[in-house]
Amino acid sequence: MRIPVLLASLTVTLAAQSTSAQSTTSPAAAPPLPYQDRAQPVEARVADLLARMTLTEKIGQLTQINVTRLMGQNEWDRGPLSERWLDVVLGEHQVGSLLSGGGSAPVPNTPEAWARMTNDLQRYTLTHSRLKIPLIYGVDAVHGHNNVKGAPLFPHNIGLAATFDVNLTRDINALTARALRATGISWNFAPVADVGRDPRWGRFYETFGEDPTLTAQLVVASVQGLQGEKLGPATVAATLKHFIGYSVPQNGRDRQPAQISRESLQRVHLPPFQAGMKAGAATVMINSGALNGEPAHSSRGLLTELLREELKFPGLAVSDWEDIARLQTVHKTASTYQDAVRQALGAGIDMSMVPNDAPAFTSAVKTLVENGSLPLARVDEAVRRVLALKFELGLFEQPYVDPAAAGSAVTAGQDLALRAARQSMTLLKNDSELLPLKGRRSVVVVGRRAVDPRSQLGGWSIGWQGLPENEDIPAVTVLDGMKQVLPKGTRLTYSEDLSAALPANTDAIVAVVGEAPGAEGEADNPGLTLPQEDVALLRRALGSGRPVVAVLLAGRPLLLPDDVQRGLRALVMAYLPGSEGGRAVADVLYGNTSPSGRLPFTWPKSVSALPMIEGATPGQNAQALYPFGTGLSYTRFQYAGLSVQGAGARQTAQVRVTNSGQVAGGHTVLAFARPASGGTAGGERLLVGFTRVTLKPGETRTVALPLDLTSLRVAAPGQAVQSAELSVGELRTALPTP
Ligand code: BGC
Ligand code: BGC
Repeated sequence: MRIPVLLASLTVTLAAQSTSAQSTTSPAAAPPLPYQDRAQPVEARVADLLARMTLTEKIGQLTQINVTRLMGQNEWDRGPLSERWLDVVLGEHQVGSLLSGGGSAPVPNTPEAWARMTNDLQRYTLTHSRLKIPLIYGVDAVHGHNNVKGAPLFPHNIGLAATFDVNLTRDINALTARALRATGISWNFAPVADVGRDPRWGRFYETFGEDPTLTAQLVVASVQGLQGEKLGPATVAATLKHFIGYSVPQNGRDRQPAQISRESLQRVHLPPFQAGMKAGAATVMINSGALNGEPAHSSRGLLTELLREELKFPGLAVSDWEDIARLQTVHKTASTYQDAVRQALGAGIDMSMVPNDAPAFTSAVKTLVENGSLPLARVDEAVRRVLALKFELGLFEQPYVDPAAAGSAVTAGQDLALRAARQSMTLLKNDSELLPLKGRRSVVVVGRRAVDPRSQLGGWSIGWQGLPENEDIPAVTVLDGMKQVLPKGTRLTYSEDLSAALPANTDAIVAVVGEAPGAEGEADNPGLTLPQEDVALLRRALGSGRPVVAVLLAGRPLLLPDDVQRGLRALVMAYLPGSEGGRAVADVLYGNTSPSGRLPFTWPKSVSALPMIEGATPGQNAQALYPFGTGLSYTRFQYAGLSVQGAGARQTAQVRVTNSGQVAGGHTVLAFARPASGGTAGGERLLVGFTRVTLKPGETRTVALPLDLTSLRVAAPGQAVQSAELSVGELRTALPTP
């Protein structure tokens, strides 16, 4: 429905005046309305504003549209903003939120252009909003400001998890928040709080791995980094996604239904969300799939009873991409789109990531409210959450950004990207110490992934499915990195496919292999296979008789054929290390950095061993090629004097760590608890604490590991864990009953 023409044009005139007058307070000006007064508490501002809003204006606040809808001719065209679509979406339908789905960037894709685009959209919105309600803009900045050319791209979460570094994770997210805000974006659809338990799933690399304790701590660090102490004009809203049960799709394929027991939900899947909520995460995004037979998007049980009543989450719940429509088209719980909207909003969704057809969504909500099938109180509750978020983010006071400042904010952080990539490198195999390559006089690098950064960047990198073939960004490839650190007097040769004869004195081959980039369902890998041509390359390299080290650029464990696995002298898991990844690989290969990453998941011997979780069932570890926590070093760390202080939920382990090797190195100490009796977790080894140290050769330090014993508690009454044992390396001690 159109706002009456007269009113609309009047609004425009008023808006134009106030924009030109920009926050001057002339004595003649009317006193600000209560909601415009920043001295008022958010709750009061929300109540005042809500009371002034029409139904159309309210519904607009619940609507999120993809920015490409406002560009070009059809929904995926990129290009200049179209006056016609701005008018329909932001004018007529009063839409209050936009997103850039993966790859939805302005042309040209520069930080300045992003800032100018969001400013233009904000200006249009404010000019056409009777009550001057600003727009909130969201993106998936899942490893840096990854849609923008020139932004450093950090390792994807699976690699970041291998660093076990909470402070690093916080710093990366704080830097990302600054970059986002500098381009007018105040909402990040991150962090993924799903626990990664099926490596076949195309989004495994977006998770922090299989462990709930590690995931929870890195989720908290991400939220703290993005949101700062408190939301405000310099921070962005975090999103815990995808609530809940998204990460264990039946058969490992994206968006397939999941079956999760109450116990596993409580012990494995909910804790990272709970921890993120406790840290103040402002929003959650809902799981696209179905859990235990019910689509999450229409589940009152999940979205109201669990999320609101039990977990007491006060923030905003946004749908995932087009997932309200999918209640009709995929899940078939709804027979019409309107009914799908009724189910989703009724169940507890606050905002719909529509993301294309604004009129269809807004008119459906309007009809439902008018015919009484959706209570206005439900709409009001949702609108309140949207408005509160916009107030908290300071958008009413500071809706615009300075395009001239965007460039420096977005491009900052290469050093941090390099540090994160270095720390993530996980050495899985190093037979007769082939690595480091320092003393090797002639090394041959093979594989096209050594010279093409697309694999090391992974999905969600400029394009949704990864860096498009015809695009270029500043990135250090493995070959670039190796050239940068090549020791004097040694030789480096590159051969894409090893077709030419090897130089006669070749004393090592570095084969860079891995997965093509991808995202979501397109990145599913049901067999955990390495592409055939990469396997063939490894075989050719092994066939040369020279020692071969493989560098794996992959977002999950891959199963190498037996002969290859056995033949490799060294194997470096590099994950998806980002734009500085090549240098990080080179530093580890040449020994400038001792590798310190530890696997944040269990590497299975075969697909038939899935789901493969650390110690999940007795005997299952025999199926692990590399257990959770595997990670070799160029030095040796020894533990002594394990003890535990404290009681109940607040216990801290202490242990002395000595670097007894020849070189400096970083190391993560892992503490596991094994319940001796009682509890459904019986027998399973659970990670309960970790900490990172860096030690010079010969140095000893006593480290403290705060223990998170929530995983030892069990849901069922009368089943509390009776006693447990704590282990750090080979050391063991009794853990006072939690
Ligand atoms: C993904 C979300 C993402 C959204 C917006 C969806 O397809 O599942 O994780 O936030 O798209 O790009
Ligand atoms: C968008 C992504 C989104 C996906 C959902 C893509 O075209 O760019 O952001 O997650 O569609 O299927």
